[in-house]
Amino acid sequence: MYLTKEEERIYEGEEGWAYQIAMRILVKLGDLFEADRLIPIESAHVSGVSYKTIGDAAIEFLEALSETGAKAKVTSTANPAGIDYNHLEEMVKLPRLHEKQSRIIELYRNMGINPILTCTPYYIRRPKEDAHLAWAESSTVIYANSLLHSWTNREGGPSALASALIGKTPNYGIHKSENRQADVQVKVETVLRDEADFGALGIHTGRTLKDEIPFFEGLSRPEETQLKHLGSAMASTGMASLFYPCSSCPKSSERPETISVDAKDLRNAFEGLSTTNEDPDMVYIGCPHCSFEEIKQIAQKIKGKKIKNNVKLWICTSRYIRRKTENYVKIIEAAGGKVLSDTCAVVTWLKELGVDVLMTNSAKTAYYAPTMNNVETIFASLDLCIEAACRE
Ligand code: F3S
Repeated sequence: MYLTKEEERIYEGEEGWAYQIAMRILVKLGDLFEADRLIPIESAHVSGVSYKTIGDAAIEFLEALSETGAKAKVTSTANPAGIDYNHLEEMVKLPRLHEKQSRIIELYRNMGINPILTCTPYYIRRPKEDAHLAWAESSTVIYANSLLHSWTNREGGPSALASALIGKTPNYGIHKSENRQADVQVKVETVLRDEADFGALGIHTGRTLKDEIPFFEGLSRPEETQLKHLGSAMASTGMASLFYPCSSCPKSSERPETISVDAKDLRNAFEGLSTTNEDPDMVYIGCPHCSFEEIKQIAQKIKGKKIKNNVKLWICTSRYIRRKTENYVKIIEAAGGKVLSDTCAVVTWLKELGVDVLMTNSAKTAYYAPTMNNVETIFASLDLCIEAACRE
């Protein structure tokens, strides 16, 4: 990969150890994927923030980087952590975990990474169309590429952090227009009723297509939230970081391969996301973190109801959206639900809170929670989730 004189100086360590390590990560990645050069990025979004998912070795690495005084060169933000410090009554009661988590947040902050602690940073600050980004968190990446028309590969935590410190990313993958063409037409031959059906479609499509980029036929006027669920689920079972919701898109050939998705495929994907018929201990909405519209919709559905005594209702969003939806948050909390920020059910400690059965409208959470959280899952629409959380 070609490096400018300035980049070579950083590579040789003339700007210090942290920038050298960051540059070496980017060059290694670039060489691996045959990038021709580094390109400037508008922003970086870093994952690997929850202590539950990264552990002690990562803290040591972040300590070493941060001690050098290295700072992000572009606007940089961080994914959810394992604790919502404004709702400690809802969180795991182990002081050691709280201390470790706050140290991680402090280290990122020291390096100029804004701890907004959300996987929907685009609701706070929308990147420009055609902007090159270095974002981690698969649901965030696929949303940026598919719905915001920005350009980002699916970075891991370390490469997104390296890009934040250097302000650049290697030019390969879907930073190149020839790699953003759709390979496969997905004909949807069944009716999708809600975000959960879109999530099930995403699970099926990702599993079937792996890293091929699809365009969909037959999604009639999908809403943004439904496409968010489609993308986050697709990125859970597959490796593609881009989809097109309709057929007007660049295609890799005039006659792309076609697959059909019928009612049976959708039902199989849907039913495969539930592992139990038992009643839930927790109902969880907010993977990916909720938008303004989603919080409003939940408040409207829940108004005047009461949450069952033996069920927790968690709604997760960013602090920014929580502030913007204050009046709706009051309605949800008056019913007994909790609107949390900075964390989510997957990256916090659920088992330690006594949760054995988690019900959710998020296909992504239902897909990961049995392994990441060691809980049983029930996958259902938002309406059914709220019904299960509320008293008769
Ligand atoms: Fe976000 Fe947590 Fe889901 S980080 S995408 S809410 S698993």
